[in-house]
Amino acid sequence: MKVFLIGCGCVGRVLAENMDRMEEIEEFYVYDVVKENAKCIVNDFSKSKISENPFESMDETDLVIEAASQDAVAEFGSETLKRGKDFMILSVGALGDEKLRKEMFALARERGGKIYIPSGAVCGIDVLNAASVANIDSVELETVKPPHSLKDSDYIVKNNINLDNLNEKTVVFEGSAKEAVKAFPRNVNVSATLSLAGLGFDKTTVRVIVDPEAKRNVHRVRITGDFGISECYVENTPSPDNPRTSYLAAISAVATLKRIVSGIWIGV
Ligand SMILES: NC(=O)c1ccc[n+]([C@@H]2O[C@H](COP(=O)([O-])OP(=O)(O)OC[C@H]3O[C@@H](n4cnc5c(N)ncnc54)[C@H](O)[C@@H]3O)[C@@H](O)[C@H]2O)c1
Repeated sequence: MKVFLIGCGCVGRVLAENMDRMEEIEEFYVYDVVKENAKCIVNDFSKSKISENPFESMDETDLVIEAASQDAVAEFGSETLKRGKDFMILSVGALGDEKLRKEMFALARERGGKIYIPSGAVCGIDVLNAASVANIDSVELETVKPPHSLKDSDYIVKNNINLDNLNEKTVVFEGSAKEAVKAFPRNVNVSATLSLAGLGFDKTTVRVIVDPEAKRNVHRVRITGDFGISECYVENTPSPDNPRTSYLAAISAVATLKRIVSGIWIGV
């Protein structure tokens, strides 16, 4: 299999490291708006090649993996799916844009490409997938983060929230997943994944708490519905290169890739 990786940051590097070791991956192209980041990957991993033209690289590969930004999903998602190729998305918040979501889902149906959304940094997606076959009453996400992981996010800056002087846990955001993915485009992708699996972006609720004592990104998910009640909790180790990104998100993308190439899907 040939893969095209868009985004050579923290998640991209973990994917590259694993793809380099996977027998089923013959080679992979890499692309990043910051060319230096793509070069670093090519220097370290022998199966990787720089993509000089992302649209040509799509034509030459079976699967495109986005590990970059919401903008990259808008720029490359539909183009990949138009070609009937498969697309894996990490910046899931991009699908909060209804127009883009509908366009990409329609292209996948019409042209046969698949859209893969790893569970990422959150737990409980397996329960939610099953629960959505019957009635779901509520899906709530509570996210607790250390101040530095939210510090330069647009919402915090725009609302003049000073995270440096907090001395207790503080709720900085409460609202729908639709509002959350706009407020924190780089931080609450998990709320988008929960929305897509469950009640949609308007009815999935999100609370973001900053805790000056927290060392990890914590997600609590509560789901109620015909199946019963589910409460799950994950305490994520931040990635050393990017404290906004939980290491679990990166290895969850690798796990999705392993399932794709092996054809064996457990717990789906
Ligand atoms: N689904 C989840 O649970 C989850 C969890 C963590 C992170 N993420 C998302 O995954 C993405 C990657 O995370 P990361 O920690 O690797 O980020 P990062 O900032 O470490 O790396 C992103 C890389 O993508 C590049 N990039 C950005 N926009 C681009 C574009 N339009 N085209 C090409 N390259 C572009 C950047 O230059 C950078 O090198 C982010 O959008 C992040 O929000 C999702």
